[in-house]
Order: sequence, then C-alpha cells, then structure tokens
Amino acid sequence: RKEKDKIKIGFSQGMTTDDWRKQMNKSMRLEASLHDDVDLAILDADDDVEKQLTDIETLIRNRSDIIIVSPIQSRPLTAVVEKSVKAGIPVIVIDRKIENERYTAYIGADNIEVGRNAGRYIASVIPHHEGGIRIVEIKGLKGSSPAYERSLGFRQIVNRFEKLKVVASIDGNWESESVKAPLRNILKQDKDIDYVFCHNDRMALSAWEVAREKGVENKIKFIGVDGLNTRNGGIQLVQDKVLQATIFYPTGGNEAIKLALKILNKDPVSKNNILGTTVIDSVNADIMKNQLDKIDLQQASIENQLHKLSEQEKKYATQTNLIKILTFS
Ligand code: FRU
Repeated sequence: RKEKDKIKIGFSQGMTTDDWRKQMNKSMRLEASLHDDVDLAILDADDDVEKQLTDIETLIRNRSDIIIVSPIQSRPLTAVVEKSVKAGIPVIVIDRKIENERYTAYIGADNIEVGRNAGRYIASVIPHHEGGIRIVEIKGLKGSSPAYERSLGFRQIVNRFEKLKVVASIDGNWESESVKAPLRNILKQDKDIDYVFCHNDRMALSAWEVAREKGVENKIKFIGVDGLNTRNGGIQLVQDKVLQATIFYPTGGNEAIKLALKILNKDPVSKNNILGTTVIDSVNADIMKNQLDKIDLQQASIENQLHKLSEQEKKYATQTNLIKILTFS
C-alpha cells in the first residue's frame, strides 16, 4: 500500500521514561503492525506540557486521520484536544483525562475505582487490627487526572470508617525521587504509620526504600498501583513482599488502536471505554503473573511472525528485481 493511502494514527505520549508507558507504546505498535494500512507515529513529550502541546499541533498540521493523547496534565491540554476535534480530526484520550468531555472517546481504567479498591483493601483489615489504622497517602502529579481520581475514590472509602485515618499526604509527581525527602520527614515525626497508599508502584517501591533506611519496612504495609509484570514491576514487588498489594491498571495500548480503527470505520463506539482493574496481592499474584506471561509469549510470537513475514517480503522483492534485470537484459 502506498504511503498516501495509509491510515495515519498520531499518538501524543506524555513521556516514556517508565515501564508502564513503554508497555503502552509497545502494545500500540504491535496492534498497529497487524494492519498493513496503518501508519502509527508516536511523539514523546518528555513530561513537558509545552512540548506535548507542540506535538499535538504537529499531528493536526500533518493531517493525522485520528489522534490519541495521554495528557500529562488535564487543564493545559484541554483546548488543543477541542481544536483537533473541531478541525475534523477525532481524538481518543487515553489513561489521563482533559478537563471537559469535548473529546471523541476515552479509554482507560476507572481511577476512582482504583482508589476505592485501595481503600477497601485497607478497610478489610479493620477487624484484625487493634485501634486505629494510620495511613499516609502519596499522590501522583497534581493536575493529572488519575492523581485526583485515585485520591477521590480512596477518601470516599476511608472516610466511611472511623478507624481509618489519613494522617499525612504527599504530592508526588509519579516518579520515585519525589517521594523520598517528604516521607523521611513524615517518618521522623510519626512513628506509628500502618499503611502507605501510593498512586503507583514506582513511588511505592521508593517509599519502601525510605522505610527500610529506618528499619520499619516490615512494620508499615505498602499498596501501589499498576501491577506490571516486569522486573521490579508491581507483581514482582508483591511476590517479594515489598508491597502488600497493587491495584492493576492496564495501559490500554492495543485497545486504543482498535478503538481508533472502529472510529475511522464509522462503527458505533462508546464515548467512555472503561478497562477492568483488580486487586493483586499474595493470594493471586502467581496466577496473574502466569496469565500475563502467556500474553507476553503470544505477543512475542506475533512479533516474530511479523518479522519473518517482512524478511520474506524483502527476499521476494529482491528476487522480483533480479528477475526484472535478467529478463530485460
Ligand atoms: C506512568 C504512570 C503510571 C500511572 C499512570 C497514571 O507514567 O505514572 O505509573 O499509573 O502514569 O497516568
């Protein structure tokens, strides 16, 4: 198929420094490569809102057929999404949201439910716990919707139980370093923390490291979010007993490409496409790992087949060229 006939999908990714986003990109690329009429361009904003705005402007200017965006923060990205939709280029918002509903479709897990799951998990130990349960909440980046929604859901549950008390909270930025100094401060003043709920597993691991410096890593229990099946990912951290639990948060990469193709095909789609989330703890970590290992193997085998196919195509092309040269000479 000629370049100009291809379906151009532009993806504005907030950043790709972490494994969760690497996995999102990978699953998008894999899904896209299953359709030889799809051309996927991924622009990486390096966690810089200004760059993300320019990236989306570029995707609009290049006349993408559809744009997928994972906005670093909600407010600053709202207008450009509207602009694209108005210009006739549909926009799928993935994982993080914008401030209003003027996008074409959203795909991602329900982050309020993610927060509620963490709250329910802690509430379930109340009968086995003497006295109150003192909690520290470590949030994601202010202004990014999962940080707001995870906190909202978490507080909805925690506020229902007198015995649950959030005694301190930290505004992290989703990354490990943002956690260290503020948590050291809190642990210096308060020796009786029972639980730390972190809005992702990277920050949870970092929080655990701070607790270990003080020798209290076994006294405090840590809960994270993401549940990646990677080295040092949430599932391994649960298996290694660093985390008590993690709330699984799927990236939705391949689903986003499928949704994009449906929209372009004018198939009916839901405006909000909510992916499932679940608690992973020592009871089901092995089962989850097994299942996710199987999916990884299938993905690897598809990649392998695609690779072989393109090698065959190259060989075929050289042979046809050779035949042309021979028959013309
Ligand atoms: C990855 C990440 C995840 C988190 C998500 C929220 O960049 O920080 O760890 O669940 O973004 O948008």
